[in-house]
Amino acid sequence: MGKVAVGAAVVCAATAVAVAALVVRHRMRSSGRWARAMGILREFDEKCAAPIGKLRQVADAMTVEMHAGLASEGGSKLKMIITFVDTLPTGDEKGLFYALDLGGTNFRVLRVQLGGKEGRVGKQEFTEVSIPPRLMTGTSDELFDYIATELAKFVGAEGEDFHVSVGRQRELGFTFSFPVKQTSISSGTVIKWTKGFSIDDAVGEDVVAELTKAMERKGLDMRVAALVNDTIGTLAGGRYYDNDVTIAVILGTGTNAAYVERAHAIPKWHGLLPKSGEMVINMEWGNFRSSHLPITEYDQALDVESLNPGEQIFEKMISGMYLGDIVRRVLHRMAEEAAFFGDTVPPNLKVPFILRTPDVSAMHHDTSPDLRVVGCKLKDILGISNTSLKIRKVVVKLCDIVATRGARLAAAGILGIMKKQGRDTIRDGEKQRTVIAMDGGLFEHYTKFSQCLEITLKELLGEEVAGTIVIKHANDGSGIGAALLAASHSQYLEYES
Ligand code: BGC
Repeated sequence: MGKVAVGAAVVCAATAVAVAALVVRHRMRSSGRWARAMGILREFDEKCAAPIGKLRQVADAMTVEMHAGLASEGGSKLKMIITFVDTLPTGDEKGLFYALDLGGTNFRVLRVQLGGKEGRVGKQEFTEVSIPPRLMTGTSDELFDYIATELAKFVGAEGEDFHVSVGRQRELGFTFSFPVKQTSISSGTVIKWTKGFSIDDAVGEDVVAELTKAMERKGLDMRVAALVNDTIGTLAGGRYYDNDVTIAVILGTGTNAAYVERAHAIPKWHGLLPKSGEMVINMEWGNFRSSHLPITEYDQALDVESLNPGEQIFEKMISGMYLGDIVRRVLHRMAEEAAFFGDTVPPNLKVPFILRTPDVSAMHHDTSPDLRVVGCKLKDILGISNTSLKIRKVVVKLCDIVATRGARLAAAGILGIMKKQGRDTIRDGEKQRTVIAMDGGLFEHYTKFSQCLEITLKELLGEEVAGTIVIKHANDGSGIGAALLAASHSQYLEYES
């Protein structure tokens, strides 16, 4: 071999060694990064843990707060709002009624012909309208004018199949799914906004008066006969079909629960005791908080940056508006501190609320061997392409952690209500059936979430009591429920009986 050849061989060998060293360093670096990413995931998982013992503490804290909220106004983070609904639908409701359901990015209007015990729920029609985002943070007049315009259009299209008696005003059940201090069955003032709404000039105002003024401005002659929360509508709609419904839970953009309470167990109620001896309570459980809640630094950051910092902490750990953003926040940390998606942080990961809960649900339910759905979501929403199967699996795990915590906490909340009602045990061998009416997009569409909730609740209750409860999806209970309550509070009722 000549000198030149020897020299070349030496150079080649040196290059190979250098390349090998680089590869090793790269591998070490990437395995270091991977380990760091897994560390972040593990820590998050641990902080989110909601074992049965902790859930029992959460349930007990919920029961305690319920008592406190019923004892005095402002006595608890739980508002425990008296709804003025002391009787739930019986089946006797008759006539044409309208319902308006406002509580998220869409509102719905509905008309239904109720036919009493024989006719039941007859023909019904509805329309759904999306609310332009600027109206969610604008003025009260703008929002209600928009709603009244759409409502007037809908009423204008009423067909021959619907009958309002001659000379009578049309009546409406208004489902308004934000915290309201109810002053009668058909009036109440806005306490605060939630779920991304923030209309300052409406706070403290009577929403029924606001809607009525807007209807008048639009020339629509309609009376609001009942103002209800979506939980109350769901409870009423559920009760219409099943007498054992005593609890309603909404798991959607926001979350909340309502239940039937004994009137004399409400010390803050100074009015006459209702004949039924009962009163429906709107808990506004979204605002629950307790030192037992497994809150992480990601939840804290989400809260601080939200439109309503310090408020709705339970809701921010459970409901559809927030689950996606919790997942995004953890992924962002992994990208930033462990280069989980490569050397640069994908810019979309910095955009609040870009990852929505339906996307999390789709990824969580992905059963394809290569987690194709996860790959597509990462690419389409977050702009991260060519992800490995290993990375996709981590993302699924993250969705699982967040959804499981939310579902388990919701189950603990329900146990808290059942305890308050004395329905968490079997007394004197008497098996009281308890039906829980559930609604909301999260419950309806995120199957793993609803399954986890149901399994957890049964685990918390134990086999025997679990056998006495039924979780029912009250599909659009809240729309029909509001119409039913409008019927039972109609201004014409006394003429009919
Ligand atoms: C509201 C409740 C409502 C729940 C579900 C919460 O943000 O405060 O009034 O029932 O969302 O829609």
